[in-house]
Amino acid sequence: MMLNTIFERRSVRKYLEKPVEDDKLHTLLRAAMYAPSAHDRRPWHFVVVRDRAVIEQFMQVHPYSKMLAQAPVLIVVCGDTSREAAPGYYLEDCGAATQNMLLAACELGLGACWLGITPVRERMEPVKQLLGLPEHIEPFCGVAVGYPDEARQVPERFEESRVHQNRW
Ligand SMILES: Cc1cc2nc3c(=O)[nH]c(=O)nc-3n(C[C@H](O)[C@H](O)[C@H](O)COP(=O)(O)O)c2cc1C
Repeated sequence: MMLNTIFERRSVRKYLEKPVEDDKLHTLLRAAMYAPSAHDRRPWHFVVVRDRAVIEQFMQVHPYSKMLAQAPVLIVVCGDTSREAAPGYYLEDCGAATQNMLLAACELGLGACWLGITPVRERMEPVKQLLGLPEHIEPFCGVAVGYPDEARQVPERFEESRVHQNRW
């Protein structure tokens, strides 16, 4: 089951006009919080945005987020620099949490798309302002969530040439 989800997950950028149930959102957030993190610091926060005005402002500062016009929910994954194990570790921790969320979405029949924020300063600063994040909280990425209105093919991605035995 889990392997199918890994192999079948794709970024979904078209959504049905159908709200996402609270219990499913809760499962996504719970899945995110089960991700591994350095020293188990779990240096993450999640801003769940359903307010259309806020989503529209996010679209104005993020150039590759057009799909949010249809998505009922935007989750902004944030890193807490006061909790991370060492400077910069929150990036990996939040990446693991985000991937858990994308896989959980796929498993629940939802569609999701990762919207990169870090390390692009021109996105980080305005998103921080928009969401009123405290100084020690950095916006890591956005995740658009909704019910999929597209079915995307899953290409073979395994490349033998990327695998090195014992040394390069
Ligand atoms: C760090 C990161 C940033 C991304 N940013 C965006 C983005 O801003 N907008 C977007 O539409 N997709 C974004 N994506 C999704 C990628 O385009 C997508 O994962 C990639 O094309 C592979 O397709 P798949 O997710 O369907 O397997 C991002 C993915 C990652 C990991």
